[in-house]
Amino acid sequence: MAEKLATLSFHDGKPSVDFPIYSGNEGPDVIDVRALYGKTGLFTYDPGFMSTASCRSSITYIDGDVGILQYRGYPIENLVETCSFLEVAYLILFGELPKKDQLDTFVDTITHHTMVHEQLSRFYNGFRRDAHPMAVMCGVVGALSAFYHDSIDINDARSREISAYRLIAKLPTITAMTYKYTTGQPFMYPRNNLSYVENFLYMTFGTPCEDWKPNPVLTRAMERILILHADHEQNASTSTVRLAGSTGANPFACISAGIAALWGPAHGGANEAVLKMLDYIGDVKNIPQFLERVKVKEDHTMLMGFGHRVYKNYDPRARIIQKTCHEVLEALDLKDDKLFKLAMALEKIALEDDYFIKRKLYPNVDFYSGIVYKALGIPVPMFTAIFALARTVGWIAQWNEMLGDADAKIGRPRQLFTGAARRDFVPMGQRK
Ligand code: SDX
Repeated sequence: MAEKLATLSFHDGKPSVDFPIYSGNEGPDVIDVRALYGKTGLFTYDPGFMSTASCRSSITYIDGDVGILQYRGYPIENLVETCSFLEVAYLILFGELPKKDQLDTFVDTITHHTMVHEQLSRFYNGFRRDAHPMAVMCGVVGALSAFYHDSIDINDARSREISAYRLIAKLPTITAMTYKYTTGQPFMYPRNNLSYVENFLYMTFGTPCEDWKPNPVLTRAMERILILHADHEQNASTSTVRLAGSTGANPFACISAGIAALWGPAHGGANEAVLKMLDYIGDVKNIPQFLERVKVKEDHTMLMGFGHRVYKNYDPRARIIQKTCHEVLEALDLKDDKLFKLAMALEKIALEDDYFIKRKLYPNVDFYSGIVYKALGIPVPMFTAIFALARTVGWIAQWNEMLGDADAKIGRPRQLFTGAARRDFVPMGQRK
């Protein structure tokens, strides 16, 4: 019996009904409305899940009013300062920070799963060279289920674990191959003497013609960006992974569904859209005019990289990426980078504008990440693919958590039907 109850009362004399209220360890309480339909014949109506907790989770906690993000209880600011991406991946997957030997074993396992089946590389030839990287990623990651049959028994814990290792290990290889395919350069095999992030940069930027050496500043910047993108509780793509997974679909298919959902410009695709927007604005003097357009709803122009469903304060990830951006531009002697200056000016003007203040619109994770990617030499269409590579850790952890949750059921929302009521069929000749 829950300690707290919520009472739903009606104005038409129907008896009131009680629902249990549950408390999490942090964040708002939830009203358990699962019995609502059975008790009252009513559904809740909540398009966009504005007030709905779709599951219980112990992975990531966000306090959007204050601007707090924690993975398994640890503030993102601490993790990003000291951890490697794989250390954070271990934390997200298994719930605790790894001890030295646990991390060594995990890194070794991931390192020894980075190659993809040779036949998978031929998949790329089926795509046009100018295909969007996210289109290629959806296809190739989905195709993994055709290659790794031995790890798709979702009811077997070991099988699920192997799939998790395979996905986390192969995503950098697949993402780098996607880039190589668009440039026409040869695919680079992974190298086991490099770290996870170095290896990704090597497979992306290395060629067989010359030696490739990691640049520690750039590697660290990429490591940070991957950590910051690794999980973000029940966002649209994670919810998509959970929904696909709730049907019993295999993990590769579920992650592919997540990649598709991430692609949209309202979600992970915003990092690419921010760069296009900055290019379009072109100069600081054009900012006021651009912001006036943003305020006209009918114009459908958004300030990309701004606003968030949960953060009604500065996204803590944006703060860290802005700092990383400074460091990278400094290291590359690009301090006067025009896009960065434009982004800083745009942020300042927007944060002082009544429209954005009233709606609590602040920069989100995507606002500055693109400038860092660009400085690292990554082409704009690849930005969201890198987001997908990082988020795979969160997706797989959330998928695993769902499969272990006794309350989880196939995701099957209902609707408020607004179509035609039953009517008589009209034969072809009598239709008006
Ligand atoms: C990510 O959910 C996650 O956790 C996602 C993510 C993750 O790590 O997984 O954090 C990653 O997806 C970041 C978000 C990237 N998207 C963008 O940067 C695109 C621009 N942002 C917006 O599309 C929007 O802010 C959303 C989609 C991010 C959030 O949408 P909501 O919560 O549904 O809010 P809303 O659209 O109802 O906005 C409220 C008001 C509206 O105005 P009014 O109708 O009240 O007058 O704010 C306005 C909106 O029109 N508004 C914006 C705006 N964002 C919201 N106006 C101009 N520019 C914007 N960017």
